[in-house]
Amino acid sequence: MEFNKFLVKDFWNEASCGENLYLQGFSKEDYTFHSKKRYELEPEIIDFAQFEKFKNKKVLEIGVGLGADHQKLAEQGAILTGIDLTPRAINHTKRRFELMGLNSDLQIADAENLPFENNSFDAVYSWGVLHHSPDTQKAVNEVYRVLKSGGLAKIMIYNKYSLIGYMLWIRYALLKLKPIKALNAIYSDHLESPGTKAYNYDEAKILFSRFDIDLIDSPLTHADLLTSEVGQKHRSGYLSIAKKIWPRWFFKMFMRKHGLFLLVSLTKRN
Ligand SMILES: C[S@@+](CC[C@H](N)C(=O)[O-])C[C@H]1O[C@@H](n2cnc3c(N)ncnc32)[C@H](O)[C@@H]1O
Repeated sequence: MEFNKFLVKDFWNEASCGENLYLQGFSKEDYTFHSKKRYELEPEIIDFAQFEKFKNKKVLEIGVGLGADHQKLAEQGAILTGIDLTPRAINHTKRRFELMGLNSDLQIADAENLPFENNSFDAVYSWGVLHHSPDTQKAVNEVYRVLKSGGLAKIMIYNKYSLIGYMLWIRYALLKLKPIKALNAIYSDHLESPGTKAYNYDEAKILFSRFDIDLIDSPLTHADLLTSEVGQKHRSGYLSIAKKIWPRWFFKMFMRKHGLFLLVSLTKRN
């Protein structure tokens, strides 16, 4: 495995996404609590995913993390396979599924080299994963390869022109007197695993150019509006001040598409 991917793997193997914030233990109740907090905080996941659309479909989820969305897919009757780069995520999701009495073929695997035949799945789902992989285009090509013709993919990657990006830029570029530091470098150095990427709409259209793009959107979220807890990495006096003065009404009125989540629904062309 190349060095950059080791760094990504190490980062997510320390703690899966949301683990430090909302997972208090390893019981059924703990996983249920995690899901409850996740969807309270990020209702856009439910609106975007439309989990019911996956019923009776052969579905691959890439990057299961703690397995909340995987559970939703299973409860909606999807026939599931799930992968993640880290043993930690796969162990969590296996435990969650055992406790809930659900089924999925869960494996440690790399999005850039999926261990599946061409045209194996009716649908692919992936929330907040592919931008962490060093070669995101390769991972997207893999989604295309394993999807059946006419198959559906629902993918969230990060939106470059987001309020979160601007806020991190103010903090890590402007206030450090390095205003020429580009947004790409800010995401790479300061948002989650090292090397994280973010895409503007045109870049995303190129990334997904082999597909038909049915939807591309980037609504504001709790993260952009600073209405929630943030990860340990970003807690500071600076953030407390930003939370107090953040002009949310202005952003909601004039910057509605500057959310961090770039939501993309795709169909593999026939
Ligand atoms: C931000 S978390 C998202 C997890 C989950 N989808 C969620 O929304 O909570 C990113 C996940 O992507 C996984 N990941 C990163 N690069 C990957 C790759 N190349 N192949 C598979 N999984 C990867 C990480 O291990 C981590 O679990």
